[in-house]
Amino acid sequence: MSERAAAGIRIERVVKIFGDVGITALNEVSLDIAPGEFVSILGPSGCGKSTLLRCVAGLDTPSKGQIVVGGVPVSAPPEHLGIVFQRDALLEWRSVIDNLLLPIEFRGGDSRAVRPHAKALLRMVGLEGFEDRYPSQLSGGMRQRVAICRALVDDPMLLLMDEPFGALDALTRDQLNIELQRLWLANRKTVLFVTHSITEAIFLADRVVVFSPRPGSIADVIHVDLPRPRKLAVRTSELFHGYAGRIRTLFEGMGLLKEDE
Ligand SMILES: Nc1ncnc2c1ncn2[C@@H]1O[C@H](COP(=O)(O)OP(=O)(O)O)[C@@H](O)[C@H]1O
Ligand SMILES: [Mg+2]
Repeated sequence: MSERAAAGIRIERVVKIFGDVGITALNEVSLDIAPGEFVSILGPSGCGKSTLLRCVAGLDTPSKGQIVVGGVPVSAPPEHLGIVFQRDALLEWRSVIDNLLLPIEFRGGDSRAVRPHAKALLRMVGLEGFEDRYPSQLSGGMRQRVAICRALVDDPMLLLMDEPFGALDALTRDQLNIELQRLWLANRKTVLFVTHSITEAIFLADRVVVFSPRPGSIADVIHVDLPRPRKLAVRTSELFHGYAGRIRTLFEGMGLLKEDE
């Protein structure tokens, strides 16, 4: 289904200081992400996850260091980028299919030609037949599915997701984890996925990058060696528990999780 090659990302010793408020958000973050890899970024609130994503998206610039996407240093938003935020940012006055075709219209592309692909994406997330509905007629989970399809419709080389399921109930979130895996297996985009759910981070990723509290730096990188497609039941496996335990221990070491004596 996918035509455009996925991009690798190189994050080189990135420091981000918000000078006006004297906050160091990111401290010497270095990370190489292979084309087509799925990487989860996991960390406490305020550790700089969104800042890092914004820098990769060219929406903000590092104070030091650099970021290279698809071999090109980022100085402005790279072409062929898909972004999904916690809030879906759908246009209420446009139907589902017209929301999906927006990125094509923005770049002056032939949206008629892309319609079949847009419909195929909707089918993959169970939204066949909803093309002509309006966002206000959809549940939160359905809206977020549309937002993900919209991020994928123009065949990006990179997909950035910032807590895309953070506002959804637990069941819907599980379902969307399955559907995102399905889309990723069919498209093999490079994905940088920010979450603060340990379970979600492991379930989806090839690697989980764990951040320390602010100033955010990489505390550990965990390779997730679970075959795909993964079923939700894998979360009760011994291997999965091992990964989750390792991450919880890290968070305990940072003073973020404390048990009662
Ligand atoms: N534009 C900004 N100006 C000043 N401080 C900011 C700005 N954006 C983020 N910060 C600060 O940088 C830190 C990291 O923020 P953020 O990247 O949003 O964290 P996260 O997404 O991990 O919760 C926070 O302390 C936040 O207050
Ligand atoms: Mg954030």
